[in-house]
Amino acid sequence: MSHDRHSYAEPALVRTTHLALELDLDFTAKVLSGTATHTLAWSGPGDRLVLDTRDLTILAVEGAVETVEGDWEPLEYSLSVPDNELGSALTIRTGQHERVRVSYRTAPTATGLQWLEPSMTAGGMMPFMFSQSQAIHARSWVPVQDSPSVRFSYSAHVTAPPELMVLMSADNGTESRRTGSYDVVMPEPIPSYLLAIAAGDLVFEPIGTRAGVWAEPEMAKRAATEFSDTEEMMRVTEALFGPYRWGRYDILVLPPSFPYGGMENPRMTFATPTVVIGDKSLVSVVAHELAHSWSGNLVTQESWDDIWLNEGFTEYVENRVVEAVYGTELAVMETAIKQHATVVKLDPLSAAEQAVELPGLNHRSQYHGTTGLGPLKGRWFLAWLEGRFTREVFDPFLRGYFDRFAFQSINSEDFAGHLREHLLDQRPGVVTAAEVAAWLDEPGIPAFAERAVSARFEVVDGARDRWLSTGQVPEGAKHWTTQEWLRFLDAAPDVLTAEQLQQLDREYALTGTANGEIARRWYSIVAASTYSPAYDELASFLTRVGRMKLVLPVYKALVRTESGREFASQVFATARPGYHPITISAVLKILRR
Ligand code: BES
Ligand code: ZN
Repeated sequence: MSHDRHSYAEPALVRTTHLALELDLDFTAKVLSGTATHTLAWSGPGDRLVLDTRDLTILAVEGAVETVEGDWEPLEYSLSVPDNELGSALTIRTGQHERVRVSYRTAPTATGLQWLEPSMTAGGMMPFMFSQSQAIHARSWVPVQDSPSVRFSYSAHVTAPPELMVLMSADNGTESRRTGSYDVVMPEPIPSYLLAIAAGDLVFEPIGTRAGVWAEPEMAKRAATEFSDTEEMMRVTEALFGPYRWGRYDILVLPPSFPYGGMENPRMTFATPTVVIGDKSLVSVVAHELAHSWSGNLVTQESWDDIWLNEGFTEYVENRVVEAVYGTELAVMETAIKQHATVVKLDPLSAAEQAVELPGLNHRSQYHGTTGLGPLKGRWFLAWLEGRFTREVFDPFLRGYFDRFAFQSINSEDFAGHLREHLLDQRPGVVTAAEVAAWLDEPGIPAFAERAVSARFEVVDGARDRWLSTGQVPEGAKHWTTQEWLRFLDAAPDVLTAEQLQQLDREYALTGTANGEIARRWYSIVAASTYSPAYDELASFLTRVGRMKLVLPVYKALVRTESGREFASQVFATARPGYHPITISAVLKILRR
């Protein structure tokens, strides 16, 4: 097994098989504290356990030789000098104890947690907190082997102020009675990045028998309506790729500072409220997070270098689910939008840069969080395989892959081997070795990859071209769907004139839109064009929302001009207290460039 360079842990020597957490949430101090008890499986000689931590205060470490309740003895430990990216290794001297218990508390600045003042919630009365562990932030709130190659089950006992509901990526049930003391279990082995916790004024609203929504009271009913197709999505995915193996599937709608669209925490997807806009036009985020119940949560990449195995497969499955539930037209439009983004990012790069940005899927690439192109290339590759082999052959192949590697952590070679054995060798002559190598070993998107063609987007492109050359407002735009607007804006020039922007606003009221995907594109053009009449609404968008995918492009467009940079700094100063720690670092990077 290759070493995971994003973790100090030594899983070849010892692995956590079960984690028992006893946690307390202190909203006044913004501190989570308690104990993490690791049940260990030793696989060789050795006398140390190395755990990942970041900004944790370690209060004590004890060991027990029996797995049942026994005598705890103090163990010696040391913390390494913190590394900016990786944190500190907690090295514990043990005599191969079967259990090791770490008492600790988090820093108020823990990178994996956000503590929100009541004013930052929908209700405005109660505080809120949530975790975001992926990729390497679990270590900032639990001392753990923070590598996706290690899987363990977990249990937790959590205490919190009695007016708050606590939820984890586990069997929370659907009972929203608040007691201030909660017990949950995750019986399946999961990687550490799927550890998750949230607490706030949360109520439950059912969607169907297996799915539901948790949200603040003012949001719960609206969210359940927006996500009412969730059970159908589950049925569709099961029919294609095998049973859903996690029991319930609930969606927790977080406050708008949640830094992602969604996070696939098992049994409890965390979601941004920015997709709850009343027309279901952004619910492919739910299809995406649900798809992770197969790709990622069930079959996991063993290191972050293999992220495409997770996100690439998930994007592919997401699109299949969108197609089955909402039809081919929407699925094709969404694919075309993603492909366009891939090509736009790739085109201006030299061959050498392309090789770094988008190497062959088998090559270890630098892990860049969500923004890498690997997932998009992976998605395109799988869709291409599907096209060549036909669904009749490809769908059972993919289902077999999920079954074979269920609850395991694997790498790109494991996939390539499975592909060869169960598809390429079974059906010789369908694709050539050179074609497969172009995806797996060579940079960029292969020239023979077909692009999705959307008839509706061709109409949009025509309307945009005519508008740009004649000034005649885009025809039919009053009836465009969200995706058609995204296409219109994606392929529009980065900079437009004040007259052009004014005209679009007069006709279609884009400034102030409630649709975050439209907003991030529109305000990026507004910013690059220094169109000041829209600046108040742009600032209010950046202050209201903290989802990185929505706010970072607008900051990037603002810093393209001197006046914009000045304005961006002012807006950030106001917005910053409401942003998540990782959004803050990402914005600071843009402002300092
Ligand atoms: N698991 C990711 C979010 C993530 C990736 C967090 C890498 C940290 C590191 C999640 O499933 C995701 O991809 N969310 C997308 C939405 C999706 C529809 C593409 C997002 O947040 O925008
Ligand atoms: Zn994802």
